Amino acid sequence: MTGGLVAGYGALAGIAGRFLYTQSPRKLAWMFVGEAAKVKVGDVIRFETPAGQTVTITRRGQTGTADDFLALSSTCPHLGCQVHWEAQNSRFFCPCHNGAFDPAGKAIAGPPAEARQSLPKYPLRIDNGMIFVEAPLEALG
Ligand code: FES
Repeated sequence: MTGGLVAGYGALAGIAGRFLYTQSPRKLAWMFVGEAAKVKVGDVIRFETPAGQTVTITRRGQTGTADDFLALSSTCPHLGCQVHWEAQNSRFFCPCHNGAFDPAGKAIAGPPAEARQSLPKYPLRIDNGMIFVEAPLEALG
């Protein structure tokens, strides 16, 4: 009986371990997006990562630092549709279920607002006037 218990708990621990520890960390890299001087305040540029994720980068200030810019995922956190910027409404809009996000990516309408799901941010930096975004190199398996 003891052997059966040990075998049973061992199998359970093995299954639990597979779910808890199998994901290796995703490889991230800083990717060149463009020249900061060519992006005016209010401009929106889209960038696709090697993993196929679309990132929307907006310029909100003129200090010449990374604080002027915001890099947000273009993938709606509700069910994964692509959001787009609506300049006339000053918001990101998801056409799938009428989700909306303010310019900072905070959900303000639709299912994402009800679930408090904002657009994920990507780290962004400026080096020698060049915009870089840190993003995964590979898509999730
Ligand atoms: S997928 Fe965007 S609101 Fe549902």
